[in-house]
Amino acid sequence: MTAKKYKRTLVTSALPYANGPLHLGHLAGVYVPSDIYVRYLRQQGRDVISICGSDEHGVPITLKARNEGISPQEVVDRYHEINKKAFEDFGISFDIYSRTSNQVHHETASEFFKTLHEKGVFLEKTSEQYYDQEADAFLADRYITGTCPHCGNPGAYGDQCEQCGTSLSPTDLINPVSTISGSQPVLKETKHWYLPLDKFEPWLQEWILKEHKEWKANVYGQCKSWLDQGLHPRAVSRDLDWGVPVPVEGADGKVLYVWFDAPIGYISATKELTPEWEKYWKDKETRLVHFIGKDNIVFHCIVFPTMLKAEGSYILPDNVPANEFLNLENDKISTSRNWAVWLHEYLEDFPGKQDVLRYVLCANAPENKDNDFTWKDFQNRNNNELVAILGNFVNRAIVLTDKYFEGRVPELTGLTDQDNATLEEIKTIALSVEQSLEQFRFREAIKTGMDLARLGNKYLADTEPWKLIKTDQERVKTILNISLQISANLTLLLDPFLPFSMEKLRGLLQFEGRAWDLIGKPDLLTAGHSLGKASLLFEKIEDEQIQAQLDKLDLTKEDNEKPAEVSPQKEEITFDDFTRMDLRVGTILEAEKVAKTKKLIKMRVELGFEVRTIVSGIAEYYEADTLPGRKVCVLANLAPRTIKGIESLGMILLSENPDGTLHFVEPSDEAVNGSEIN
Ligand code: 2FM
Ligand code: ZN
Repeated sequence: MTAKKYKRTLVTSALPYANGPLHLGHLAGVYVPSDIYVRYLRQQGRDVISICGSDEHGVPITLKARNEGISPQEVVDRYHEINKKAFEDFGISFDIYSRTSNQVHHETASEFFKTLHEKGVFLEKTSEQYYDQEADAFLADRYITGTCPHCGNPGAYGDQCEQCGTSLSPTDLINPVSTISGSQPVLKETKHWYLPLDKFEPWLQEWILKEHKEWKANVYGQCKSWLDQGLHPRAVSRDLDWGVPVPVEGADGKVLYVWFDAPIGYISATKELTPEWEKYWKDKETRLVHFIGKDNIVFHCIVFPTMLKAEGSYILPDNVPANEFLNLENDKISTSRNWAVWLHEYLEDFPGKQDVLRYVLCANAPENKDNDFTWKDFQNRNNNELVAILGNFVNRAIVLTDKYFEGRVPELTGLTDQDNATLEEIKTIALSVEQSLEQFRFREAIKTGMDLARLGNKYLADTEPWKLIKTDQERVKTILNISLQISANLTLLLDPFLPFSMEKLRGLLQFEGRAWDLIGKPDLLTAGHSLGKASLLFEKIEDEQIQAQLDKLDLTKEDNEKPAEVSPQKEEITFDDFTRMDLRVGTILEAEKVAKTKKLIKMRVELGFEVRTIVSGIAEYYEADTLPGRKVCVLANLAPRTIKGIESLGMILLSENPDGTLHFVEPSDEAVNGSEIN
């Protein structure tokens, strides 16, 4: 349903963990889109609140505290302040930025758990879980690592394998090791409370798959795949000493699982913001929208709605416009490898250029698929779009008015067909931006918004007031009046996207209007109105500035590629051992992703003497449609293997970097198909 049918909107943005600073992936995935959306609704005069805060529980925080020899509270105090400031600096206009270590949150989460407990919603189950005898602690989530049973990643965590994205429980891991002491854990009995997601499955099927077909394809698809695989009860407590204590008898040393308490943080923050919080959470005329990244989909679309439904008095999310991930210079953003652009560092290097990053991250948002941020694209979009289109247009309108009419808005002296069509086009563009925003299509919205500046440039280029001024001053008055009206409309239309620059432009125009409804109205600036002093809205970004950023990343890369991580040599073999392998050069003829798998690509490979089907786990590193024509090395006499029902006849040789990324071993261009590799 569209937002307009509701009386009010409650927008939540994923609560970032307070265990590290924010990077541009955070902004692009969640906070730039949510901020654009709430700014737009506010401009429309709609009742909206925007909720966020720090997620301050969970194992990553306690691990960080342990590593640094400080308390978890000290960790979250530090990063809560840093992240709150970063959001403010980038103009992310939350109505509240709260935190889950607050008293009000502990009380709210406790009450929520108690209500479900009293309603008999939870299963209570005693099971064997890994326990570190040296550290005298149960090993929840990231306190345990081991080998992923799905992809063989030796560094998988007890809750998730970051290489293949599978969600795990500690007992799934092969060769588990405690991250506290490095020792091998033993199994020991412990009791926990479970949310029986399986019982809610029929309802979730109906609610998501039938009633929310309008959700973004990436969100709907992920939900469907979870539901198709079947849901299971999920533990909502942990044996830890940091978090919200489980508020029932016999639960000493147990806290609520971070993913149980964190989304309740949205409710606690609303309570903290307004005594009218129930209006936002319990009235069916409120529309609840969760902005999140794709790794949070299951929690916001399946787990939290189940909790809300089981409690019974809350509304459910109407939409969850989750984004995919943003990569940086063709590589996954990674905190541990420092492969990121940190927001505080960006501001040191590009002071006052918050809007440039907001613009680039919106124009290139990972809306439907993972996307790549490159510094070159950042420079191009700044120089060719913000400077050359938007900045150039408003600057010309203001400077020419200053020059010909002493900075006063000249009067309209009669409209031509082109003038009328141009004024009409303002409304058409605004309507289109509005439609895109209502459907969470932010890339499309900003592109269309910029069309208004393009329209202005075209209008000036067609009418050429700088030539006409010698012969027809009256006509120039009209042309500049219209150009200034377009500029005033730009401040309204682009304010959600570029709040800092549009505030500056309002200053240049001495225009105070803010309401969305004003867009397209005649005479936003009346004749005779005095403009402010002209000054440039955007500046060019030079090659040296971009090179400095690339150099910074190169240094990171060098650090990451230290040889220490290279695996040791395997046991010696004889030449005969080697010659038993029939290695050949081949060419990929066709390639397609294997349905319902993350990693597999099925290929037809020309080996000179025959064409083979080979399945390989490379889909995370190569797009299938880029493969045909590529030369590869193939182990041709490997015994056939059936992978996902497909018989694979051979293996393509790949090298594996220490970070687990795979790359083809490429024969030279001159090598012909079928030639032996010795
Ligand atoms: O993925 C994350 O960063 C989580 N801290 C998001 C929590 S969102 C909500 F549930 F609080
Ligand atoms: Zn894995």
